[in-house]
Amino acid sequence: MLDIFNYQDLEPTRKRIEELTQLIDKYNYEYYMNDQSLVSDYEFDQLLNELIMLEKQHPDLAMPNSPTKRVGGEVNKSFRQVTHRFPMLSLGNTYSIGEIEEFEARTRRLIGDHPFSYTCELKYDGVAIGLTYRHGELVQAVTRGNGTVGDDITANARTIGTIPLKLYGSYPDDFEARGEVVYPFDEFEAFNRQREADGDEPFANPRNAASGSLKLQNSAECAKRKLMFCMYFMMLPPDVDISDAHLATHSNRLEWARQMGFKVQPYIKECANIAEIKQFIDYWDEARWQLPFAIDGIVIKVNQVELWDSLGLTAKSPRWAIAYKFKAQQVSTHLESISYQVGRTGVVTPVANMAPVSLGGTVVRRATMVNADYIRSFDIHEDDWLLVEKGGEIIPKIVGVDMSHRKPDAKAIEYIDRCPECGTPLVRTEGEAGYYCPNQDGCPPQQLGRLEHFVSRRAMNIDTIGLERIKILFDSGLVRNVADFYSLQRNQLIGLGAESGATIQERSADNIIEAIDISRSVPFERVLFALGIRYVGEVGAKKIARYFKNMTNLMNASREDLLLVEDVGEVTADAVATFFADERMRQIVERLREAGLQMQINESNTSAHLQGLTFVVSGVFEHFSRDEIKSSIEQHGGKVSGSISSKTSYLLAGDKMGPEKLKKAEKLGIKIISESEYLSMINE
Ligand code: IVH
Repeated sequence: MLDIFNYQDLEPTRKRIEELTQLIDKYNYEYYMNDQSLVSDYEFDQLLNELIMLEKQHPDLAMPNSPTKRVGGEVNKSFRQVTHRFPMLSLGNTYSIGEIEEFEARTRRLIGDHPFSYTCELKYDGVAIGLTYRHGELVQAVTRGNGTVGDDITANARTIGTIPLKLYGSYPDDFEARGEVVYPFDEFEAFNRQREADGDEPFANPRNAASGSLKLQNSAECAKRKLMFCMYFMMLPPDVDISDAHLATHSNRLEWARQMGFKVQPYIKECANIAEIKQFIDYWDEARWQLPFAIDGIVIKVNQVELWDSLGLTAKSPRWAIAYKFKAQQVSTHLESISYQVGRTGVVTPVANMAPVSLGGTVVRRATMVNADYIRSFDIHEDDWLLVEKGGEIIPKIVGVDMSHRKPDAKAIEYIDRCPECGTPLVRTEGEAGYYCPNQDGCPPQQLGRLEHFVSRRAMNIDTIGLERIKILFDSGLVRNVADFYSLQRNQLIGLGAESGATIQERSADNIIEAIDISRSVPFERVLFALGIRYVGEVGAKKIARYFKNMTNLMNASREDLLLVEDVGEVTADAVATFFADERMRQIVERLREAGLQMQINESNTSAHLQGLTFVVSGVFEHFSRDEIKSSIEQHGGKVSGSISSKTSYLLAGDKMGPEKLKKAEKLGIKIISESEYLSMINE
């Protein structure tokens, strides 16, 4: 019998969820596909938040392709390996126009009398993935992997705005949309700048960043990356009738896909012959630099699908398609002078200042010469002409010397022997390629860089002090080293920065003082990382902190003692020993101690962040051994249990977690969290 007291009519909720879903889907579509905002960000967020709330209250009514999935939040444990239903083939590729001519002639000969054409399109430089759609719904996203087996990245793919979760209009019932995930240049650069501000290593290029993003464990992080999916191929099961005009040619398929809601390049061109193909290639070899994302070539495909089978496959790639890869562009230009930049850790980087020259769509004036050995290996002389190259990436590279311009009496470059910023004699550590300025505490770019690193998010996380304010504080003379932050008074701050138009007002002064105050409780291992010792990154700092337990032990440690720490090699041991041998650094550390910073690891049960919570731990972790993570939970007031039950608060999932635990947690609706989520829980 229906219990009328507990009965709740879900129909209105279901309707509202449907209504919200449709609205949000429509706004998303216009935003990602047509660059149009139909509503304000505020209104959009209100609708989305309402949907998130309803789904939370009624998990049974939440759809797998709900637009709330775009926000992410699901935790991907070790990505499941999936065998592709249809292998993801690669393409034969070449840098030679001659081979494109041969491809075209061979194809024409094999096809014979049949009328046919080619499509030419851009070859994206990103990460290939395959998206399976059934009945118009995205069901799975898999990376190319080795072409046979890839990683299931569905949760992350759902956060990419240009991947339709549900298709529009008509569509094949079962197919795979293949394409490339790319990181548009502007988003990539903004993201890298943020990483640097946070004290993280920037990514080398958009492709690496896209690839790393797809493998993020927390899909909410992936959602922040603003990746783009560009579809270039529709894969259908072999029994599909391809006489339908929609499916008969590759270009029709892509046009149809566009109507379903995919982002498809508008540049695709149907070409009748080799002359038209060459024209397309020549055009894009120049024009590629104006695109907002990276491409590395042109793909040429036979357009008529019915001809594909007869042309067949080679071992790895179809015979009906080929890729032409662009060569890096190269110019030679006059070396006018060399400047020397000094970084946060004192490392000196020589930079070539060259006569401006146009290369790959931009005017190049400067390029890094990496270090002294680099200059020596190319045997660069004064007044030389340098060969500068720009490949698929953004940054131009010096690849050699144009000897035709070498003057007979030219002198080899003499590397500087004093710091260009503070005049201190440079030193070179045995076995290292570059020189550095040892004046850690008296060389302005090192001082500024060190301060910037100290306040960064992963270090002391004093987020009210950015680079601009560091400059203001430094120029005013109030902050010359990291210990000075802790002597700052509210009154000293108010009114600073007027010259640069960024005057610190009373409210900001309060916020700065408060953030500095809060940083006093940042754990010892992060304090150690914040000091910015060369070669001591976040993980290294943790290992060193755990080994020595407190600052006093560490400061008294010999080079040999340091070598006993896991993963600490000779270079790092030397750097740490040198750092603490410097009397000025020891004084700064003493002042930090007096200011109340954490100078020992927290082994007591003092934090109550995890009070009342029970954890089950499974898998392998990056920052902890199994025992360490268990004792960390206990240190923060939590309990550890061996098996999952309804009393479990969280399943803390590492790499290679047991599938049984996962299944059970999912069944009981236990929240699964990653190591990084755990870290943010305890560092709150
Ligand atoms: S077609 C069977 N078209 O290039 C045909 N591939 O080795 C499948 N790529 O990793 C590929 N842009 O991810 C095709 N417009 C485009 C492409 C493209 C980039 C990538 C693809 C694969 C590689 C080919």
